Amino acid sequence: MKFSLIALFSASALVSAFPVADPEPMFDERQAAQSISDAMVAKGKKYFGTCTDPGRLSAGSNSAIIKANFGQVTPENSMKWDATESSKGTFNFGNADQTVKFATDNNKLIRGHTTVWHSQLPSWVSSIKDKATLTSVMQNHINTLLGRYKGKIYAWDVINEMFNEDGSFRSSVFYNVLGEDFVRIAFETARAADPAAKLYINDYNLDSASNAKTQGMVRNVKKWIAAGIPIDGIGSQGHLTAGQGANAPAAMAALCGAASECAMTEVDIQNAQQADWTNVVNACMKQTNCVGITVWGVRDSDSWRPSGNPLLFDSSYKAKTAYNTVLAAINAA
Ligand code: G3I
Repeated sequence: MKFSLIALFSASALVSAFPVADPEPMFDERQAAQSISDAMVAKGKKYFGTCTDPGRLSAGSNSAIIKANFGQVTPENSMKWDATESSKGTFNFGNADQTVKFATDNNKLIRGHTTVWHSQLPSWVSSIKDKATLTSVMQNHINTLLGRYKGKIYAWDVINEMFNEDGSFRSSVFYNVLGEDFVRIAFETARAADPAAKLYINDYNLDSASNAKTQGMVRNVKKWIAAGIPIDGIGSQGHLTAGQGANAPAAMAALCGAASECAMTEVDIQNAQQADWTNVVNACMKQTNCVGITVWGVRDSDSWRPSGNPLLFDSSYKAKTAYNTVLAAINAA
């Protein structure tokens, strides 16, 4: 007893003599020398982020890893139309609120994802046939989501995945009923609902400058911005496979040239070579208006496409070589 009291006293004396400057976040959850998000910020970028949601945040080491290593979160599913307004005018924000609370409590930026998307869209929306109804339904949905989180969201993916591979407009209820004008309606509504949020158009397979889809995005965004539509940024999702990182720098140069800012928003790389991760990081670092990179998940086994181990942490939540490759590429930029 006597011994343990002395030990306790000595331990607390030691602690007060050598206070730990920053005991949080836990080093063992980072498992690397430095937070990749802090490294990004040190280079003038805004964040390195990941996606999450309450189911993930309450499991394993996800929240500790996000707190220690990432500076931004995107709700993976909880803000989508099927999750927030599965029946007309009845909104459910349970999971979205929890994700936003986690982010704000831990000083993480938030990318809102997503308001106008043909997928995960309830059938009551996709079956609308007339312009007036669809316009008011879109406006109400955007106003309600952006209004609820007004001032808390860094950027919103206002429109997601509206292009075909050939650069034409995808057949969706939004395009089929409203024509191209749905873009103006969506962005103008979003700007009025949360004037401080950066408003993005986001898509996949924008990973090569020579893709017709990349060129269609660039051409149309330039045209829409010139016409006064309030688009602030282009998001390139970046769902890649081995070797594709090589084309990312030229692709981002093209995309970032079309809007005031740009970001890589959902990166994962199946069967990545380390050079793919270096190239992806460089693709953003080389563009002064690229604000950050988001990977689509924390650990490989929780990825929407787990084959090819596409993320930065393994299934035991251990930082992979890829994490250190990313860190080195940021620091070298
Ligand atoms: O919530 C239901 C649950 O109630 C049900 O029991 C279960 C049974 O399958 O399904 C659950 O919904 C799943 C949902 O994720 C939430 O976990 C859906 O089936 C599943 O399809 C859905 O997948 C998501 C996918 O988007 C849907 O399109 C992925 O998690 C998500 O990572 C993925 O993310 C998209 C981006 O939003 C846009 N870009 C592409 C990217 C990858 O597909």
